[in-house]
Amino acid sequence: MSDVLLDVADLSVCYASRRFFNGKAAPAIADVSFSLSTGRILGVVGESGSGKTTLVRALLRLIPTATGAVSFKQIDWLALKGRELARVRRRIGVVSQNPFLSLSPRHSIAQILIEPLLADGQARPFEARLQSALEAVGLPRDYLPRKAASLSGGQAQRIAIARALILNPDLLILDEATSALDVSVQAQVLNLLMDIRERTNISMIFVSHDLAVVQHISDDLLVMHEGRIIEQGLTDHIIANPVQPYTQQLLTAKKIGYS
Ligand SMILES: Nc1ncnc2c1ncn2[C@@H]1O[C@H](COP(=O)(O)OP(=O)(O)OP(=O)(O)O)[C@@H](O)[C@H]1O
Ligand SMILES: [Mg+2]
Repeated sequence: MSDVLLDVADLSVCYASRRFFNGKAAPAIADVSFSLSTGRILGVVGESGSGKTTLVRALLRLIPTATGAVSFKQIDWLALKGRELARVRRRIGVVSQNPFLSLSPRHSIAQILIEPLLADGQARPFEARLQSALEAVGLPRDYLPRKAASLSGGQAQRIAIARALILNPDLLILDEATSALDVSVQAQVLNLLMDIRERTNISMIFVSHDLAVVQHISDDLLVMHEGRIIEQGLTDHIIANPVQPYTQQLLTAKKIGYS
């Protein structure tokens, strides 16, 4: 039986500043529908401007939605407000593209990892939690006092992943999380994410403009173009038999092969 964690139906987002000449708002994403089951990794691919980050921001309730319904853990997610919204949002971990923007450079790794525990109202001591959080992303315990600014890009992204996972969320959303990394470091982080899924059975939404990367990590795939999903299904099926010419273009454009 499939265990649906997230169900999205006909989701549309209109930015107020994006208007047609007739005054109507042009949707940045339109009629987006998909569902994500527990333990699955959903890849979202599309060129720059296709609406990937808008979808992520809408799913995180950072921007208002124009139409649609979202059920997360069987909860009417778009209806939540205030403290309840904040509480359920902590069940979603987020990793974005640039770890040096998302981590305060002068904070120690320990401070960075403690922040979500405090926000969640958890009781000290945190030491054991912090150590296992570092271990889970393959970094040594003696990194805890180090400043974020002293880390390499790959190490910083591992810390961002550790922070996103420290409250054991049900869903991890990664928006271009490996795009700024060198190819070899990118492959290590992808492998780490797949290990984490194996260990914890967490669900993930992995967003990237790079189909080669998305193909490597995702079970299911959404191909976005101009704010709409133009192809969706099992990643292997779509890669083996892309129906849309745009998907074929993305496939031929991919430069790096992962295996
Ligand atoms: N704050 C905003 N106000 C108005 N329009 C926006 C805003 N943010 C994004 N857009 C527009 O919405 C569309 C989708 O942008 P979005 O950032 O979601 O694309 P993306 O697929 O994430 O692109 P990239 O691969 O470059 O990150 C684009 O046309 C963009 O210009
Ligand atoms: Mg984006």
